[in-house]
Amino acid sequence: MGVDFDAMALRARTSLRELSEDVDMLKAEIDFKGLPSFTKAAVCKQFQKLSRTSVDKYIAELESEGTQFNTKFHGSIKVYDLSIEDIIKIYEKKGEKKWRDKHDEATVIFVNSLKGGVTKTVSTVSIAQGFRLTPALAIEDLRIAVIDMDPQGSATMFLNHHYTVNNFDYTAAQICVNPQLSREEILENGFVNTNVPGVKLMPASIEDGFVASSWSSLHEELKHEGHNTPEYDLLKVNLIDKIKHDFDFIFLDTGPHLDPLLLNSVVASHFLILPAPPAHVDLHSTLKFVERLPSLIKQVEDNGSEIRVLGFYGFLSKFIPSREEHRTSQRHYVKTLDDMLPENLPNSEAFNKVGQSYETVLTIQGKDYDGSKISLKNAADSVKKLASALFYQIERDLGKMK
Ligand SMILES: Nc1ncnc2c1ncn2[C@@H]1O[C@H](COP(=O)(O)OP(=O)(O)OP(=O)(O)O)[C@@H](O)[C@H]1O
Ligand SMILES: [Mg+2]
Repeated sequence: MGVDFDAMALRARTSLRELSEDVDMLKAEIDFKGLPSFTKAAVCKQFQKLSRTSVDKYIAELESEGTQFNTKFHGSIKVYDLSIEDIIKIYEKKGEKKWRDKHDEATVIFVNSLKGGVTKTVSTVSIAQGFRLTPALAIEDLRIAVIDMDPQGSATMFLNHHYTVNNFDYTAAQICVNPQLSREEILENGFVNTNVPGVKLMPASIEDGFVASSWSSLHEELKHEGHNTPEYDLLKVNLIDKIKHDFDFIFLDTGPHLDPLLLNSVVASHFLILPAPPAHVDLHSTLKFVERLPSLIKQVEDNGSEIRVLGFYGFLSKFIPSREEHRTSQRHYVKTLDDMLPENLPNSEAFNKVGQSYETVLTIQGKDYDGSKISLKNAADSVKKLASALFYQIERDLGKMK
């Protein structure tokens, strides 16, 4: 008797659904508190340009206009329990300028390496959330999109695990080969909410792998229908350009394969970010990837595409500063890359552990974390520092272009 692949596939699907439902049930039981919240005192301490007087003034104004803020008890005293969204409203009331008032098109960020398992996905989703949840960046009210282009759907798992089970048709790969889709259709059908307001996700599907493997023939068909977009420009032209006024930052995540999804992502990107793992074997393969970049760029240019990358930054991932091997690798990366971000992603079990509940270190609070609270806090702080460092460097390099 042969293997019944269909039956096995059905069982896999059932398991996936069970895993997802178990996590939902557990969260309901423990009254899961995903996002951070702040008292008025904490707002004044952690957020720029918000003094106690201004916070009091703008909260009072918003309340008189009908906004209701959550409160909680600290002992017997009732205090405000403000979310990042509330604080963004306060900035808005104060009349602070946002990123979108200074930049009219989305900036595309691609955290990328051909080396597998170097935290591309974890960094992408954590930094994307960090752009929204880091106190120093709240003033910018950034509108974020994460486009999952890895058929494995890891970013989808972290940002909205229900879509790892449900079929999803409007994936980036599908949109790339359907040039007739309008901006409105893409925004309505292609994006789903995540548990961080302001961060939208375009989920991936396992079928995207099939689209990627027949990319050239699908591109030929498009040509016959009169579409002249080069084959590595499909993501930029058929998806990103249509939504570039609806978001401030668009993050792309692909698998570690030199395939059309990766090449399209390079063509659509303004900033390429390289997770630089310091273990010796990983350093080796990462340097080999950097060595191959010119041939990769030549491949897309020979196909009629243009590279528009404004910055290439590395950052140390899974870094243990006390290890000499890691410090030696750090030196090689600094010597090799144009830019290294001044912050890193430390090696920490917290990044793994939060994944078990389909969360990141920014979307789970200590009270709900079944592990060292200090490790969780340190991991979350490192993500916020990394997100801010990346944002500032991008702001600097975009400024140079003006
Ligand atoms: N800072 C960290 N410290 C320790 N482990 C981490 C850290 N960040 C991520 N991990 C773990 O490393 C593994 C790989 O992470 P991730 O999936 O983000 O890598 P990737 O580069 O996207 O992989 P792939 O090439 O398969 O797409 C995961 O098990 C993740 O939990
Ligand atoms: Mg990945």
